[in-house]
Amino acid sequence: TSLSILLFCSAYLLGSISSAVLICRVFTLPDPRKTGSNNPGATNVLRIGGRLPASLVFIFDVLKGTIPVYLGYLLGMSPITLGLVGIAACLGHIYPLYFNFNGGKGVATAIGAMLPLGWELCSLLLACWLLIIFITGYSSLAAIISVSVAPFITWFVKPAYTAPVTMLCILIIVRHRQNIIRLMNGQESKIWDKGRTKE
Ligand code: G3P
Repeated sequence: TSLSILLFCSAYLLGSISSAVLICRVFTLPDPRKTGSNNPGATNVLRIGGRLPASLVFIFDVLKGTIPVYLGYLLGMSPITLGLVGIAACLGHIYPLYFNFNGGKGVATAIGAMLPLGWELCSLLLACWLLIIFITGYSSLAAIISVSVAPFITWFVKPAYTAPVTMLCILIIVRHRQNIIRLMNGQESKIWDKGRTKE
């Protein structure tokens, strides 16, 4: 329907607001697209500017997923439509209209989009992410493993959403291809490493 299309477009446009770039400007930090891992996301802002700006980026990016999906839920939209709204929000974050289509990796926005599906899925994913961070220190590896298990958890807790969650997860994994190469070459920097990704 036209309401669904309106929500897809709004989700994409909201997702396109690169909070990492804007918050770094506010805190007079270097551009996250040109520093560290060159990724405009909370992990890289943590490297560049520490916990406060990184937390703000994380919260803002989560909300970019949660707000449109929750709105669609309140409007009584079907699971597949809600899934597409979440994907539109992440596509905005990854390929932002206002930032030359050069965005982040979609992890926080995807978590935000999954929040309205209930606390079970998100808390399990968060627990998985924290566990991998605790063991390895790699934010990207934690994200890749967490999103890889997300479709299986979704299948158990909210089966109707398995297809859109799977699409979202594939998008995020593909977006991490540079991280995968760095991980395999032993060049990925840990979440607490400041500054540049290892050369
Ligand atoms: O959320 C993005 C994270 O998974 C990887 O970020 O900066 O280490 O490439 P980064």
